[in-house]
Amino acid sequence: MTESNPYIASWQSPSNIALVKYWGKKGPQLPANPSISFTLDNAITSTQIEAIHSENQNQVSIEFYFEDAKNPAFESKILAYLDIVRSEFYWLANHQLIIHSKNTFPHSSGIASSASAFSALALCLCDLHAQITGETFPNFYEKASHWARIGSGSACRSVYGGFNLWGHSNNILNSSDLHAINIDENVHDNFKTLTDTILIVEKGKKSVSSTQGHALLKEHPFAQLRYQLANENTNQLLSILKSGEIKDFIGLVEAEALMLHALMMTSPTPFILIKPNTLAVLEKIWEFRNQTDLNLLFTLDAGANVHLISTAEHNEQVQNFVKNELVGYCQNGLYFCNAIGQGPKNIKNA
Ligand code: DP6
Repeated sequence: MTESNPYIASWQSPSNIALVKYWGKKGPQLPANPSISFTLDNAITSTQIEAIHSENQNQVSIEFYFEDAKNPAFESKILAYLDIVRSEFYWLANHQLIIHSKNTFPHSSGIASSASAFSALALCLCDLHAQITGETFPNFYEKASHWARIGSGSACRSVYGGFNLWGHSNNILNSSDLHAINIDENVHDNFKTLTDTILIVEKGKKSVSSTQGHALLKEHPFAQLRYQLANENTNQLLSILKSGEIKDFIGLVEAEALMLHALMMTSPTPFILIKPNTLAVLEKIWEFRNQTDLNLLFTLDAGANVHLISTAEHNEQVQNFVKNELVGYCQNGLYFCNAIGQGPKNIKNA
């Protein structure tokens, strides 16, 4: 152990948006099918952890502050997570953690924050591990991805910038269920300037969480077919990303988003997360695309909000379309603009 008490790690990490969706899991937080996402540049969690040496702790001990206020709900979620990961981070047995976390996007804006939150947390833990034990992980980001996954599956795709694949795929050599990998070297320049305008159709907590949604796949009559189609869509998207074929990209990504919500509606305990305004926005996007033939498309995560994706060359037209035709469907007129992000940053000495 090196002598530097307290130890401090401070990382910011972005959220990501899935193009082929992770929906359904098996075993210890492993995906039932591979998924592909890109990292956002503007939906970020910053986390700082101070680790203070304290002997003879039977339990992991933390103080958690979200946006400078104590947050017992988040604190117990993080405690449960740390209890699992202490098998790797054994020094948690004799260090107390003081954790401060904040988001660049407003709390409960409906933007999924577990991806950025668990990614930032896992990066801090890997960083502290090296500081406290003097042991460095041979592949730091892969390790962080692995432990981010344990907190929230989609978080494992947030430890790198650009395009990422999580889950074993026969076509990609280093792909793994245990952690995500970056696939930028197989992505055509046509896709390197994508933007994602997140239209906040509904803020606030969802009626069914993603974790509950994943569990419902266990009894789902279409589960096996879904996993097969998701594997096929992964292979197809990998070749589309390589070829640069944007029209094929549009068809596949929209079909994936609609299939995700169709699975929710057809589960043994059905549920619906989209709202009338979600459908109104999708109709508008299709109408506008038919009229203009621009490269724009939507995807959805597990909620009512719409991710409007387009290529940067149409940015002005797309932003005018948002302001003139879509903002009225957004709660309090709220929307967030993102480009493809570069990934996490160590901000300890920034
Ligand atoms: C629809 O990663 O939030 O956004 O692993 O239970 O934390 P847990 O679920 P989570 O699920 C994300 C589901 C999704 C699709 C995706 O991001 O791939």
